[in-house]
Amino acid sequence: MVNTDKQARPFLKWAGGKRQLLRQFQNYFPPELNGQGIIKRYYEPFLGSGAVFFWVKQNCKLEEAFINELNPEIYLCYAVIQRGVEKLIKSLIVLQKKYHTLDETVQVKWYYKIRRKYNETRKDVNLKKIDWKYYSERAALTIFLNRTCFNGLYRVNSSGDFNVPFGRYRNPVICDVDNLRAVSSLLKGVEITNDDFSVIERQIKKHSFVYFDPPYRPLNKTSNFTSYSANEFSDKEQERLADVFKKLNKIDSVKIMLSNSDPKNENKEDNYFEHLYDGFRIERLKAKRMINCNALKRGKINEILVMNY
Ligand SMILES: C[S@@+](CC[C@H](N)C(=O)[O-])C[C@H]1O[C@@H](n2cnc3c(N)ncnc32)[C@H](O)[C@@H]1O
Repeated sequence: MVNTDKQARPFLKWAGGKRQLLRQFQNYFPPELNGQGIIKRYYEPFLGSGAVFFWVKQNCKLEEAFINELNPEIYLCYAVIQRGVEKLIKSLIVLQKKYHTLDETVQVKWYYKIRRKYNETRKDVNLKKIDWKYYSERAALTIFLNRTCFNGLYRVNSSGDFNVPFGRYRNPVICDVDNLRAVSSLLKGVEITNDDFSVIERQIKKHSFVYFDPPYRPLNKTSNFTSYSANEFSDKEQERLADVFKKLNKIDSVKIMLSNSDPKNENKEDNYFEHLYDGFRIERLKAKRMINCNALKRGKINEILVMNY
């Protein structure tokens, strides 16, 4: 696929990613981000596919960018693309060529074989060891699974095994060479960390914009469809995040935006975020949500934005 707009795009498919909301988000970004020159740094502590990072990094003048992702497999994809994209491209081309020559019945078998191997070797991922050849092969498997699994989900079971089923795409693009190279250039000089979101407390400097996109607070018991890690992001975690938000708010010239699902979609009386972010600006946007397992419930629902400006 040719990268027509010449801008680097997220290389991971991501259910519930923020690409579809970017246009609306632009109305809520701090005005200082757009050419008024006062914001010099960008922080995104819950990176995922990084839709907002890609936009901000290419459309705003920044001196520094800091991105963080707790999931080591997703972190590795960014770290490998930053350090040595050509080796990764080679591995992905091999996987893509083989995949495209197989009949669908064989593709399914091969997908599950790779998924099994990926899970069996999960324990070998040790980010303390410096082994870029191994990391590159591992990142290639993560991207392969992401491009061929159902809906681009990254979901794991309670023991941490990736458990997304086969996606049934006829000829999915597994290796978008131009885009991967563009992403690699974009990542030059960006600080990429594999840590809890609270790492930002150690990194933050003045004249910054921080965007928090934590795992959604589930709208109801059955909608918690995206579990990115074996540890759930509970209300306790939402509250720990609110504490970090409030600490950062005390720093002069730090603009913060946070998004989440709106509990009022399910219950008009639920003021969870109004209480948690009492005194901050709260706005609601319409988002298409495809991550509800119940197809009837898919459609436009509200997304909440909290801002300190
Ligand atoms: C909602 S997703 C971000 C999606 C992203 N904005 C996009 O457009 O693709 C949340 C991400 O936070 C990561 N995460 C979960 N718990 C975390 C934590 N405690 N610290 C940092 N990242 C975490 C998940 O692995 C997931 O990738």
